[in-house]
Amino acid sequence: RDPLPAMGMDEVVRGEMGSLHGIPLYKSFTEGWPRVEAFQARHDDLLVITYPKSGTTWLSEILDMIYHDGDVEKCQRDAIFNRVPFLEMNAPMVPSGIELLEKMPSPRLVKTHLPVQLLPASFQEKGCKVIYMARNPKDVVISYYYFYQMSKIHPDPGTLDEFLESFMKGKVAYGSWYDHVKDWWAKRQEKGLLYLFYEDMKKDPQREVQKILQFLGKEVAEETMARIIHHTSFQEMKKNPATNYETIPTSLMDHSLSPFMRKGITGDWKNHFTVAQNERFNWHYQQHMAGSDLCFQMEM
Ligand code: A3P
Repeated sequence: RDPLPAMGMDEVVRGEMGSLHGIPLYKSFTEGWPRVEAFQARHDDLLVITYPKSGTTWLSEILDMIYHDGDVEKCQRDAIFNRVPFLEMNAPMVPSGIELLEKMPSPRLVKTHLPVQLLPASFQEKGCKVIYMARNPKDVVISYYYFYQMSKIHPDPGTLDEFLESFMKGKVAYGSWYDHVKDWWAKRQEKGLLYLFYEDMKKDPQREVQKILQFLGKEVAEETMARIIHHTSFQEMKKNPATNYETIPTSLMDHSLSPFMRKGITGDWKNHFTVAQNERFNWHYQQHMAGSDLCFQMEM
């Protein structure tokens, strides 16, 4: 018996955004929140934390490959959202993150987009390790704009100009990008948190995977490293049904509007921002990142 009040598909598709402790979030997720908040972590759970559209799926696939010593076949055993369950996910027609996690043998990889203050207490109590990945906000907002269009759990994003304003105001799912990246950055001093950047992973994936291995206290053979890098490249992940989200019902994700594996590059914002939008965004960025030593590469 599932204690979650089940929202119907018609309420979820293009439904209005709800709110979780002041953070904008899908109503179906907020309905499932009590079980997420009470979630019992295990000491060997590894958290994969990102603001949406920052390379979550990429990092998840890299980690599943590391956990399976570069065995490509094992990493095709199921779709990425079943191999690395999405903690707070709750939607019709698919099992919730909690349901998947409760059934999963250890060691588990757990994906979440939650801001620091909303992470269920159990993860900290059990001393779980965290890998956070951040991406520059201009590419995030463009990626998010396309994702809002294809992923029907989101309200209509409106024009790009309107969406840029919503993003800057933190009025998009998961709230302010600025707060998210800064608050997790402040946590990196704590033992057990590795903070990575999408742009670094693009530039030198081998070096970044090596950082992950060191953080996890693991080693892999040279051939395994080469297999991990190849299998997790954008081109490979785009054609892989276990990573490209094409197995999600079209009623929830419509790849004909925009594929989940869209471009996978740094600097695509340049093909979208007008000069005026870029100036406004830069001004807003400077206001919100002033005093922080967190730096982003907006282009390669
Ligand atoms: P774009 O929309 O800019 O192409 P998330 O997994 O957090 O939702 O992030 C999705 C973004 O990561 C999309 O960005 C997607 O194309 C990109 N991405 C997914 N796999 C990737 C990979 N292997 N290499 C580079 N980018 C990848």
